[in-house]
Amino acid sequence: MSIHKKEHKKITTHVLAEMKMRGEKISMLTAYDYSMAKIVDDAGIDVILVGDSASNVMAGHETTLPITLDQMIYHASSVVRAINRALVVVDLPFGSYQGNSKEALASTIRIMKESGAHAIKMEGGEEILESIKRILTAGVPVMGHLGLTPQSIYKFGTYTVRATEDAEAEKLLRDAKLLEEAGCFALVLEKIPADLATQVAQSVQIPVIGIGAGNGVDGQVLVVHDMLGITNEFSPRFLRRYLNLYQEIKGAVEQYVEDVKSQDFPNEKEQY
Ligand code: KIV
Repeated sequence: MSIHKKEHKKITTHVLAEMKMRGEKISMLTAYDYSMAKIVDDAGIDVILVGDSASNVMAGHETTLPITLDQMIYHASSVVRAINRALVVVDLPFGSYQGNSKEALASTIRIMKESGAHAIKMEGGEEILESIKRILTAGVPVMGHLGLTPQSIYKFGTYTVRATEDAEAEKLLRDAKLLEEAGCFALVLEKIPADLATQVAQSVQIPVIGIGAGNGVDGQVLVVHDMLGITNEFSPRFLRRYLNLYQEIKGAVEQYVEDVKSQDFPNEKEQY
């Protein structure tokens, strides 16, 4: 008796490394629930990020800080149940890893055991190296995240482009190399100048995935609710909207309300 599920060409961290080597760009989107993850996976996305942006788009918080480890595990396990092919990466939420490396590992183990995800992502450079190394020792792949790191929004003060000054750009480049040396399998660069992002992608062997980091990197990530136009208050320059689902859904709901009020719905064929 076989315990294996139907065979699919699954995306692993090794597949991503090979994609960088042969110059094939990596596609990544967020998802936080079963239904959206199923669509995104069926459409052939390479990586699904269960981002802590769930705090904004799913729960309506102003920042990513309030989301808890339990809530991230709930979102991640819903996503994992939907996917056949994509690599699922989960954000360690604010407050679940900054204390010390043991806390970081304990949070990671909970995510891996309770959700079935494949890797975790953490924001920061040199200051979180010890935690990254401890997590890697436990056999869990780690994705780094540099540039605009939303968990530090109160330190930055704004969501504007990062690393435009030489000192910050040099630190970012140094941090990227440290994350690679520590063993991260990939790196997200958020909202930094395109030339700097290209320089980072050319300086490290691991895949570099950009969001607002130009076209010289190894792949792109967007928040799925933003690219589908479900959210409509947020319009940064880097965002390409592929649909305007806010209007589409609103129109459909308005029509439904009208049909119910006018008793057009349900009709003869829509009842028993
Ligand atoms: O939480 C998130 O959605 C992210 C992406 C913006 C990279 O970290």
